[in-house]
Amino acid sequence: MSKKLKVLVTGATGNTGSLLVPALLKAGVDVRIFIRDEAKAKPLKDLGAEVVSGDLDEPGTILPAVKNVDKIYLLTWNGETQLKQAENVINAAKYEGVPYIVRHSMWGPENSRIIKQGDKIEEMIKSSGLQWTLLKPTFYMQNTMMAAQTISSDGVIYWDMKDGRLGMIDVRDIADSALAVITGEGHEGKSYILTGPGAISFNDVASTFSRVLDKEVKYVNVPGEAALQSMTGMGVPQWIAEGYVELSEGFSKNFANSTTENVKILTGHSARSFEQFAKDFAQVFSSKEITV
Ligand SMILES: NC(=O)c1ccc[n+]([C@@H]2O[C@H](COP(=O)([O-])OP(=O)(O)OC[C@H]3O[C@@H](n4cnc5c(N)ncnc54)[C@H](OP(=O)(O)O)[C@@H]3O)[C@@H](O)[C@H]2O)c1
Repeated sequence: MSKKLKVLVTGATGNTGSLLVPALLKAGVDVRIFIRDEAKAKPLKDLGAEVVSGDLDEPGTILPAVKNVDKIYLLTWNGETQLKQAENVINAAKYEGVPYIVRHSMWGPENSRIIKQGDKIEEMIKSSGLQWTLLKPTFYMQNTMMAAQTISSDGVIYWDMKDGRLGMIDVRDIADSALAVITGEGHEGKSYILTGPGAISFNDVASTFSRVLDKEVKYVNVPGEAALQSMTGMGVPQWIAEGYVELSEGFSKNFANSTTENVKILTGHSARSFEQFAKDFAQVFSSKEITV
């Protein structure tokens, strides 16, 4: 009988991890999660994930998490220490002899500090001597949830994206792709840029919300400085908020004005459209739900 696959997922409580972990468990994989907040991890623990508490910024806490796993799904935050966090995990993996890293990376304009660090992490993984696969999603559709309040109250989505078109992706398709790579074969040494099915502008985003929510939603472009102030006001750390503004500058110039078939190739199903996303999460953007 073949040995059961054992996988460590970092960032398990976040956007992708919280979908990926249940999917891996359902597929019969032994899943260990590395978390820093036990209350947030409880739903995943209840589903059967083994929990190791620690901090990606603290190398000593990572070693017990990587022991005896076959693969690591390496997801870090996008803050200033992401390079160090990834280095800590890679060093622990090398020390414990973990053979394979699937990196949750990113596809975005290199003028952003976030992408610069992401690219360095990719190089670090490629030269680590370990087996690897890179998943490179672009801008998440779910990011528009940051504008849920103004969409619901005023019918306006404010963003600093100008008329840039992006092949934005639904996080559910990233998790499906990650599941396919982790449980499948033949992905060693490959990079997959992950996009949705269409490269769309924020005007398209607004018109889709208008249709789906059955009310007028307008897109209003804002200067980067205003976006920065709004994000820091919402509690986004300064370094990350500046990185997001840099990302928007690059995306505004159509960096991601293209799509790939990789979600379909990896999962067998088409990538979800923005219309599908808006319909499935309509409640999040509807004033009725927010004021209840
Ligand atoms: N947002 C996008 O459009 C986008 C697109 C492509 C790629 N990416 C990349 O995807 C990655 C994840 O970004 P995201 O926005 O989706 O975030 P996320 O996965 O929702 O959140 C980050 C995760 O990392 C965990 N974490 C953060 N610091 C940690 C630490 N010191 N020790 C242990 N765990 C820690 C968080 O735990 P807690 O729950 O405890 O906070 C959370 O589970 C980033 O590298 C980002 O650059 C993002």
